[in-house]
Amino acid sequence: METSHSFVRRCGRMTASQKKALDTLWEKYGIVPEAQLALQTIFGRTAEKHLEIGFGMGDALIQMAKEHPEHDYVGVDVHSPGIGHLLIEIEKWQLTNVRVLNADAITILQDHLPTYCLDMVYIFFPDPWPKKRHHKRRLIQPQFLALLAQRLKPNGHVQLATDWENYAQHMLQTLDASAEFTNVAGQGQFIPRPESRPLTKFEKRGQKLGHGVWDLIYQKQE
Ligand SMILES: C[S@@+](CC[C@H](N)C(=O)[O-])C[C@H]1O[C@@H](n2cnc3c(N)ncnc32)[C@H](O)[C@@H]1O
Repeated sequence: METSHSFVRRCGRMTASQKKALDTLWEKYGIVPEAQLALQTIFGRTAEKHLEIGFGMGDALIQMAKEHPEHDYVGVDVHSPGIGHLLIEIEKWQLTNVRVLNADAITILQDHLPTYCLDMVYIFFPDPWPKKRHHKRRLIQPQFLALLAQRLKPNGHVQLATDWENYAQHMLQTLDASAEFTNVAGQGQFIPRPESRPLTKFEKRGQKLGHGVWDLIYQKQE
């Protein structure tokens, strides 16, 4: 797939507690990507498996996992302070249905997850790469969607949100054009903000800047 990444690994400032969490809690909640990840075995139960790509500080993941103890959640990101923060929150709420991957989501989907293993994928406020010359770094691309379709179960869903209108239009066009996904809102339509979608740090930031928000939900074909 595309070699220029959809992210820039920023060292970012890590608080002492985030650093401590990485040292002490990673073993409990972190997943080290091995050849194939058997999610059923990792969680030790049969339950819906939901993946959040680019969870940032983990606000959405924590809220969803608290509200739905009947589902298992895997978060993947490369942002260390956010991973530390997520680990602190998992421990604080004693959540048994969340695990974390510190990796490029594309590598995880491509090399470490078996076909048709996910019920739901969330992509909230992915890096917008607003400059035209950087558009190729955007996560939502036809090749990425083909990969996603391979990992989602038949009738599984992908839910997205962005506060960049140009990226929202790109998502809509690219997903509508994919034969493997059906727009739940109808071709060419965004969906009203689902009440179930938690407010995240990046959404709050966008709100302060006066950005709009565009939501999309697609169902994978049977
Ligand atoms: C703009 S932030 C949004 C974070 C969060 N979803 C929110 O709404 O606050 C995008 C996040 O996606 C992560 N990211 C981008 N590309 C990724 C990739 N290929 N694999 C894993 N994480 C990625 C970045 O590290 C960053 O934390």
